[in-house]
Amino acid sequence: MTKGFPKGFLWGGAVAANQCEGAYNQDGKGLSTQDIAPKGIMGGVTEEPTKDNMKLIGIDFYHRYKEDIKLFAEMGFKVFRTSIAWSRIFPNGDDAKPNEKGLQFYDDLFDECLKYGMQPLVTISHYETPLALAKNYDGWVNRKLIGFFENYVRTIFARYKNKVKYWLTFNEINSVLNAPYMSGGIFTDKEKLTKQDLYQAIHHELVASAMAVKIGHEMIPGAKFGCMILGVPNYPLTPHPSDVMEAMKQDRENLYFADIHARGAYPKYMDRYFKDNNIKIHREPGDKEILKNTVDFISFSYYMSSCATADPKKKKNSKGNIISGVANPYLEASQWGWQIDPQGLRYILNLFYDRYEKPLFIVENGLGAVDELITDENGNKTVIDDYRIKYLNDHLVQVAEAIEDGVEIMGYTSWGCIDLVSATTAELRKRYGFIYVDRNDDGTGTLERYKKKSFNWYKEVISTNGESLIKK
Ligand code: BG6
Repeated sequence: MTKGFPKGFLWGGAVAANQCEGAYNQDGKGLSTQDIAPKGIMGGVTEEPTKDNMKLIGIDFYHRYKEDIKLFAEMGFKVFRTSIAWSRIFPNGDDAKPNEKGLQFYDDLFDECLKYGMQPLVTISHYETPLALAKNYDGWVNRKLIGFFENYVRTIFARYKNKVKYWLTFNEINSVLNAPYMSGGIFTDKEKLTKQDLYQAIHHELVASAMAVKIGHEMIPGAKFGCMILGVPNYPLTPHPSDVMEAMKQDRENLYFADIHARGAYPKYMDRYFKDNNIKIHREPGDKEILKNTVDFISFSYYMSSCATADPKKKKNSKGNIISGVANPYLEASQWGWQIDPQGLRYILNLFYDRYEKPLFIVENGLGAVDELITDENGNKTVIDDYRIKYLNDHLVQVAEAIEDGVEIMGYTSWGCIDLVSATTAELRKRYGFIYVDRNDDGTGTLERYKKKSFNWYKEVISTNGESLIKK
């Protein structure tokens, strides 16, 4: 490792509104798809919000954000990634007028970040479509969502144009393949959803994303707009050519989202996929032109890699971040069964950069683990999270390697920089943060914040611009 991290590298942390804000029905907010999903992305929905849904209170970031931003500033964050809850701005999604109190909240939040010189990096839609759009329109299956989304983005761009320079359109847009309700606001049961409707919904999201980039460039000159992809590279399980082809096929299922965002058109290989699966995408005149509004950078989440095989006897046996595959015999896994592969991050950074030659932004990476809150010799409550430090260190060393490989990387925002409610399982005991939040899955806890050992570790990484990382 010689080059090191570039000057101006955007170090920081990431959260999402629905996983930390709480205040699910305050100040005019409407219900979102998350508010009736107490078991997380892969679980079912209830008829209305229930007490066991940890997201309804979250970590009460809505009321405590000043305290939290101050702690992020103490770590030296240059950037803070969060999302805007669409249903705080348009409670039903199709309302004629926005909710002023919702707009004001994000004004205050972004001001607080800027006060410390921290750039907000804002995800426009992070797994929380207004519930009314899901129930009344079946979410993104319905083309009308493009219009509602346009209204929403025009409103937030106009309001925050002087405060937000970095925007992401849809969080992990490719996750709609596995989580159509949470990712696409699609109310139809996953089992009943046809591939035709799923890929039509994806088309609508892709058009809406490109449209947001177009409008953003017009309304906020100089701002940068990125897509956000769930990054899980697939390795062939064996060198058998059929496994290699299978890995390519599975990679393409995800890459096609990035291909369209970065290149501005559907890739040729999708023609065959659509033909083989009898899918006919309905395109309106003008869609092709809109898709040409390509993103300025590619952002992605990275937690794990996976293996692919053509052998039907080998079952998908690795748990993971929405997407699961065949376990890699060379890798260990987290307590939640996600396989840990720091080199996979270098691999995917190179893969994206070779393919698109656009700047990349790692906007999620981290370790979900059970933490034990202890009292140290000075009487301070803390967590000795050496396992998290090791995970993050090893991944960041690979980021440095990728920089040395020539990859252009804008920044790194560690996921769940403060403990929050997990997305896939809606738990609080699965913790990612540098900051411990005293709240438990049974609803107990004071909501007090405590610095973990990793807090000072990350602070040093940032202040040395990565020089303090331990390269084995
Ligand atoms: C990504 C999401 O899928 O992974 C985040 O963008 C999520 O919202 C993160 O929290 C980690 O997943 P989980 O289930 O451990 O929270």
